[in-house]
Formats: sequence, structure tokens, C-alpha cells
Amino acid sequence: MKLRLDKYLADMGLGTRRQVKKEIRHGAVTVNGTVIQTPETKISIPEDSVMFGGSPVVYETYGYYMLNKPQGVVSATRDRQERTVLDLLGGVTGKEEFFPVGRLDKDTEGLLLITNDGELAHRLLSPKRHVDKVYFVRVRGCVTDEDGVCFAQGTDIGDDTPTLPAKLEILQSGDISEVLLTIREGRFHQVKRMFQAVGKEVIFLKRLQMGTLTLDETLKPGEYRKLTQDEVDALCSETKKQ
Ligand code: URA
Repeated sequence: MKLRLDKYLADMGLGTRRQVKKEIRHGAVTVNGTVIQTPETKISIPEDSVMFGGSPVVYETYGYYMLNKPQGVVSATRDRQERTVLDLLGGVTGKEEFFPVGRLDKDTEGLLLITNDGELAHRLLSPKRHVDKVYFVRVRGCVTDEDGVCFAQGTDIGDDTPTLPAKLEILQSGDISEVLLTIREGRFHQVKRMFQAVGKEVIFLKRLQMGTLTLDETLKPGEYRKLTQDEVDALCSETKKQ
């Protein structure tokens, strides 16, 4: 792949096209050890080695971010009225090409992967792959072991087929109960409808895990961070092996 030098640097977040052009003309950039002062110079990725102010700049085609989605924003890239999850990614360059992997309801919090890697997203969402999703759920009503049995057998939530077996772990049971629920699909309002099917109401929902990716609890709702290389590799190998 070939890219103009100014676009290469701007894509990697080193400034606007205008700012990086200025830096290039001032001699701040070397390509393969030679100072290059023409922003139009074509860079071969990944063969060419680019340095900016003495530090290497590696071009990353794909970006992967973990957002702790807050309540009140929609899992869309664009919306006429509502704030979207992309509006929260303030400092991400090339943001227009990013999208959330799957959806969380407007009132659901927690782990949302945002990327521009369509292939990985497709593999994570493919109904054939059954990637586990773990939710913390607060429920109005007393959650029982029988609910767990029902979820483990597959639950009729009014669709053509029952849900795939799901795992319930009761953390606290009472007028208000707290549980962890692991599901392997991503049907519309699935967790809420599963509890509805056993006569209970979800009053708080937070996704903690998607496949090998676990929500970084140091992220406050609305905060995000880049995935580590290990996290990206784990997601890639998890979805490739199946
Ligand atoms: N299940 C739901 O009901 N809502 C979500 O946002 C995610 C899973």
C-alpha cells in the first residue's frame, strides 16, 4: 500500500494535514534515514521507515478501541438527534471510518469494541461463532436456580427458535437481584427479554466481556482506550480458530 507522506502522518495523529505539511517542509521528517521535505512523497507501507522528530512512526491500518459505554448514547455511527458512541471518541483520527461491533441498548452500559476492522467485526458478530458475552444484570424480582435451569435449556423469548443455552450465576437474590449472565448470541434486547420470559424486569444492564475481551474497570462510563496488542491478538485468534 502507498500513501502520501502528509496523509501518513496525519492519519497517525501527528497533526492536521496542514500542520504536518509545515513540519515536513521544516525538515522534521525522515524516510529511510533521509530528510524528506515534500509532503506529496509516496510512502510504501510497511516497507518504508518514517521518523518524525527523531521518533519512528509506524502506520497502523486498523484501530481498536474499548469504550465503557455510558447510558444515554446510542450504539450507532450517526444519528440525527441522539449522541452516538462515536461522538465520545474525541481524540481518534479517521473516526469516520470506525463503527461499534454490535449494539448495546441506549440504557445499557459497558464494554463496546469500536474499530475500523470490518473482518474482525464480522467474525465476532457471526451467528455461527457463538462468541460469549457476559453481562452484569440487576433485576427487579427474586432470581432463582429455576431461572438458571430455564436459561441453561434455552429460553422462549418469542422468536422462531429458543435462545441458545445461557449461563446464570446468581450473585445476590432478593426483591432486587444481581446476576452474571453469559449468552452466546446477540438478539435484539436479548437479556431483557430472557428475564421477561421468567417474569422479571431488568433495571440495570452492563456488558463486562465479549469473547476474550474484558472491560477495563479503570475506564469510567464514557471513557475509552486503545486495545493492547495482546487483546487484539487474542480476539483475532479466538475468532479464527472456530
Ligand atoms: N441484551 C439487552 O437486552 N440489551 C443490551 O443492550 C444487550 C443485551
